Amino acid sequence: MKIENIKACVFDAYGTLFDVNSAASRCKVKLGSKWEGFANAWRTTQLEYTWLRSLMKKHKNFWEITEDSLDHTMETFKIKKEMKNELLDLYKKLSPYSEVKECLEGLKAKKIKIAILSNGTPDLLKGLVKSNNIQNYFDDIFSVESVGIYKPDSRVYEMPIKKYDCKPENICFMSSNTWDVSGGGVFGYNAVWVNRLNKVFDKLSYKPRHVINNLEELLKII
Ligand code: 2OP
Repeated sequence: MKIENIKACVFDAYGTLFDVNSAASRCKVKLGSKWEGFANAWRTTQLEYTWLRSLMKKHKNFWEITEDSLDHTMETFKIKKEMKNELLDLYKKLSPYSEVKECLEGLKAKKIKIAILSNGTPDLLKGLVKSNNIQNYFDDIFSVESVGIYKPDSRVYEMPIKKYDCKPENICFMSSNTWDVSGGGVFGYNAVWVNRLNKVFDKLSYKPRHVINNLEELLKII
């Protein structure tokens, strides 16, 4: 079933457009067999810190939280401090998933507005799209830094509504993060779950009507 009356396609960044584990996987030689557990622990701690800081009203930007969560994870996994800058630098140059460019091309051809809506800072997000040469596809990059609180707070999802002067149902929102899909869906978006890793969806008062395994499939439902 196609999604109708879409004014803009809005994408989550980390894990949806960009492979968050591509940073640690590039260090798997030095991190050894524990690299995957390390990468998952880093990502989980990073997200936990965003939710906890929002609840505590103690905002720090996503780069600071990425660094704090890396420190915690390196101490937990007893990784040498010298690895820190190398891992952080890689986080600035995450790779996009292989089908992203083709998906963006197809949406451009449909003359649909394309945006990123992310916890990332404006500099991080601009750096990611530039280092992967996909900056020209995006009409807007919305960072939570404009509202000072993290997803899934509704103030984050309000940004594209205000910019495009539309209703939540006119936004098609893609995320691989189930908690983010629930946040956007509860807000009123047409939220699409990009279930890259065949996970089970959360029980958070929202059930996505569209589940795709990669972004190539998005073009079939828009
Ligand atoms: C985002 O890009 C953290 O993936 C989440 O907002």
